[in-house]
Amino acid sequence: MVREMTIFRYLLHPLLLAKPLISSTSSPFCTVFSLQNSPHFSFPINRRRQQYSHAFSVESRRLASSDSSSSTNVPTDSFPKFSELDDVLKGYMFGQKKATEVAHLVWKLVVQKGDTVVDATCGNGNDTVALAKLVVDDFAKGCVYGMDVQEDAIQNTSSLLNLSLDPNQRKCVKLYSICHSRMVDVIPENSSVRLVAFNLGYLPGGDKGIITNSATTLLALKAAKELLLPGGVISVVAYVGHPGGREEYETVQAFASELPAERWVCSQIQMLNKPLAPVLVFLFKR
Ligand SMILES: C[S@@+](CC[C@H](N)C(=O)[O-])C[C@H]1O[C@@H](n2cnc3c(N)ncnc32)[C@H](O)[C@@H]1O
Repeated sequence: MVREMTIFRYLLHPLLLAKPLISSTSSPFCTVFSLQNSPHFSFPINRRRQQYSHAFSVESRRLASSDSSSSTNVPTDSFPKFSELDDVLKGYMFGQKKATEVAHLVWKLVVQKGDTVVDATCGNGNDTVALAKLVVDDFAKGCVYGMDVQEDAIQNTSSLLNLSLDPNQRKCVKLYSICHSRMVDVIPENSSVRLVAFNLGYLPGGDKGIITNSATTLLALKAAKELLLPGGVISVVAYVGHPGGREEYETVQAFASELPAERWVCSQIQMLNKPLAPVLVFLFKR
């Protein structure tokens, strides 16, 4: 049933994901899907194009008692059609879509108009604009809190928002030039936050020396965990190719792995044979 098809189950159900691929491809190239908490559940899928391999891995264990029909708090009335899910996930698997596009798809599955969301790393504003378009409705309900340590990034984001949104929508985005570890200083207490997005690393086109780091990212994850509503998600795109990037990713991974599985579903998506490709991590609060 569509109502029960959260993105997480979609990602975690290799058979479901594989079905359209199996039926639409015929060459001998192979990709293997595996569930890390179901080590015997992996199988080859015929494929046509580049020989990328992927793992959809579950970092924190789902409770033995929570079967695939257990309920979650994810709103389902705004689910994208299956064709859109297929397009983005297949595109990612065949090397045609970026990790950030998969992140945006997951956001789309979780947030709805009127929600409050946080962009913890505004950068050039692409994610902030995407979030604003998802949450701000015609009555200017919905709110995005955006932050970045760099004033340049806040300026870039503000300019892009001014170009991309109408003035009423624009008013619903609040930008702060602060470290995301201080997000509780600017997000009002009792805000019901549906999503906190981290796109880690440095500002594209900016100073590569100003970069997210393990210590403040961990503090920010802890703050986000407390702010998040049940049914909300912390979304992380982690880059491992620059100095400190892998350590930061491992910090995110360790944080996720320790969250109790009865309250959180923590998953990651990564390329197996492109070790420097960004890794997607999703922390879904049941
Ligand atoms: C990869 S960019 C983000 C891209 C952005 N989301 C976009 O759509 O263009 C990472 C950003 O994180 C910012 N940053 C680094 N350390 C930070 C911190 N401690 N708190 C908040 N932002 C930080 C950087 O200045 C940079 O702009």
